[in-house]
Amino acid sequence: MKTVELPHGACVPVLGQGTWGMGEKKSAHADEVAALRLGIELGMTLIDTAEMYGEGGAEEVVADAINGHRDDVFIVTKAYPHNASRSKLPKACERSLNGLRIDAIDLYLLHWREKTPLLEETVEAFEKLCSAGKIKRWGVSNLDVDDMKELFGIENGTNCAANQVLYNLENREIEFDLLPFLRHPSTLNHQLVLMAYSPVGHGRGLLENKTLKKIAKRHDATSAKIALAWVLRQPGAIAIPKASNEKHVRDNARSVDIKLTKEDLADLDQEFPPPKSKKSLPIL
Ligand SMILES: NC(=O)c1ccc[n+]([C@@H]2O[C@H](COP(=O)([O-])OP(=O)(O)OC[C@H]3O[C@@H](n4cnc5c(N)ncnc54)[C@H](OP(=O)(O)O)[C@@H]3O)[C@@H](O)[C@H]2O)c1
Repeated sequence: MKTVELPHGACVPVLGQGTWGMGEKKSAHADEVAALRLGIELGMTLIDTAEMYGEGGAEEVVADAINGHRDDVFIVTKAYPHNASRSKLPKACERSLNGLRIDAIDLYLLHWREKTPLLEETVEAFEKLCSAGKIKRWGVSNLDVDDMKELFGIENGTNCAANQVLYNLENREIEFDLLPFLRHPSTLNHQLVLMAYSPVGHGRGLLENKTLKKIAKRHDATSAKIALAWVLRQPGAIAIPKASNEKHVRDNARSVDIKLTKEDLADLDQEFPPPKSKKSLPIL
């Protein structure tokens, strides 16, 4: 599978696995573990979770799925903004480490930004966790251009390794200014990657779209594969679809084989037009 480089020597696949909605029901635990394990076997070794998902439940599902495979996987988890202060972040990190049953988080993200704590404080807390060996790198999620500019102005702010944002055919807002900003040569120096969340539309009907189905037919593929291939056409982007169903996991893993043609891309642009003006970054 194609890979992307992150700071401090990590090379991760462009396709990972999400976990939002996992760890909420005991009865689903075994199936969720099996789905993530299958995804790991198929090369989707980056796993995205958060303390918010199932209030720690998803991290426990991940712990079981990666048991015996720690060296093969790259674990991303996220802290609530209300836990991102100087005093609370180390505790939240420790809870996540315990839940995940690992010694260090590969990438630790601020889930979204709130007025408090200030970004400076969160960056300082992230940097301390890096120095203590509790996390290998840190990043942010749901930060728009102005927030990113502010972050880069803070001491050590350019150590940010990722911004995880909503990006799929129906939500192309980042193409107007966030993506160009992240692609700007001065930003590229920082080795920051874009992680696209809800890449197959969060189960809200995107995959039923007629144009998407028509293009899927051309490739003898599914709508999900086309939706993922479309996200992955962005150089350096990582997509993190969530699938609890093994059929979906297999389908997603094979999306990396799809090469969209100019005709496909033009049809998709017509159905899902790129943004013509600034719209604030939507958050799910
Ligand atoms: N940072 C943030 O604020 C944020 C926000 C949202 C999401 N995320 C992360 O991004 C991950 C993905 O986003 P998401 O869960 O919102 O949405 P998503 O991955 O776009 O969609 C998940 C839904 O699509 C279904 N699905 C997956 N693959 C499919 C396929 N091949 N064919 C048909 N249906 C398929 C899943 O069903 P089954 O489960 O039944 O297989 C599930 O209902 C999350 O799980 C989370 O880790 C982060």
